Amino acid sequence: MSNQKNTLMGWIDDRLPVTQAYEKHMSKYYAPKNFNFWYFFGVLSMLMLVNQILSGIWLTMNYVPSVEGAFASVEYIMRDVEWGWLIRYMHSTGASFFFIAVYLHMMRALLYGSYQKPRELIWIFGMLIYLALMAEAFMGYVLPWGQMSYWGAQVIISLFGVIPFGLGDALVEWVRGDYLISGATLNRFFALHVIALPLVIVMLVVLHLLALHEVGSNNPDGIDIKKLVDENGKPLDGVPFHPYYTVHDLVGIVVFLMAFSVVLFFFPEANGFFLEAPNFEPANGLKTPEHIAPVWYFGAFYAILRAVPDKLMGVVAMGGAIAILFVLPWLDRSPVRSWRYKGMISKIFLPVFAVAFVLLTWLGTQPATEINTFLSRVGSVIYFGFFLLMPFYTRMEKTKPVPERVTGGH
Ligand code: HEM
Repeated sequence: MSNQKNTLMGWIDDRLPVTQAYEKHMSKYYAPKNFNFWYFFGVLSMLMLVNQILSGIWLTMNYVPSVEGAFASVEYIMRDVEWGWLIRYMHSTGASFFFIAVYLHMMRALLYGSYQKPRELIWIFGMLIYLALMAEAFMGYVLPWGQMSYWGAQVIISLFGVIPFGLGDALVEWVRGDYLISGATLNRFFALHVIALPLVIVMLVVLHLLALHEVGSNNPDGIDIKKLVDENGKPLDGVPFHPYYTVHDLVGIVVFLMAFSVVLFFFPEANGFFLEAPNFEPANGLKTPEHIAPVWYFGAFYAILRAVPDKLMGVVAMGGAIAILFVLPWLDRSPVRSWRYKGMISKIFLPVFAVAFVLLTWLGTQPATEINTFLSRVGSVIYFGFFLLMPFYTRMEKTKPVPERVTGGH
């Protein structure tokens, strides 16, 4: 609480706990002093969320959400609107950088067991963010109304059609709002993309951080820093978030923005990985592109879908691959959090899983040749094996003793 009763701040604090909130979440929030490289990606995800919202607002000023106007309005933004090309690329390249940050952020949780008790809810909110983010990116890609917008939407929405007893077909029609992908679909995707989902994502991020600040941050050693405190109750291995981590995070932000700028200004489409070539042609319902592939960040799940010969089972596998992530906190039965102190099997399995995920991501963007399908099957088995066997190997393996105090940090 502010003790400056007669100041403007004191007046506000008596009516709204601004100083109290600032202290709770910044100047008196004790974070472990041994955060490393992996701990940059939470704040970087937040940075990219802000980038998407701001660039999105400016795009909306010139974008026209109709079958007749959409493609042309994006071309108009690229060619005629002042700085329009930059705003568009900040948004389209920004989406890929957002996913890079989020995937590395999730990888950190896997490395250090950040989803384990008592942080299960932080993880669940994270997964809900991830789901909302995938829906957000999918709908955003439809808006320029290029060939890949149209046919990508066609493929993904038709997946609902595998649900039996006619329910699937009814659902597909309900999602499209028409008997085919049309202006009605474009309009509802626009509404969901520009307001409904961003609102949901922002609210989920707030909940994610409130849950984090309730239990406190994990760290690379997976140690509970609240156990060892000084006479004032401050964790011995903790430092106030502000100014220590605000300044520390600035370094990560500057380096990340440098990498983002290099791609943004020199390779904004990343050779078809961030914006695919067919999307520079207007949508044409009578001409299917030679090969329909998702943007890279959906690649792993698309590869799992295609790895299964049966369409219904493929959709089940794809859904299962996402669903299994939700229950991760209950699959890991290890007595330790960080992989630094886990046993041999976890130490081997985690990097193998990471490589399989990257491989699947790449395969999902490639044509389904025989060898690619075979590799997708191997990758899918590793993906599911990693999670399904986790309750067994995390309990069986011999863990290393966890130190009393965090290692590293200054
Ligand atoms: C818009 C997307 C997201 C934003 C802005 C965001 C933001 C943050 C921030 C700022 C932190 C604290 C700093 C840090 O630990 O890096 C954090 C922690 C955490 N996040 Fe996220 N997050 C997002 C998505 C996710 C997703 C998709 C997951 C996993 C499914 C996730 C899981 C976690 C976990 C487990 C922690 C606690 C980490 C620890 O204490 O070691 N987050 N998040």
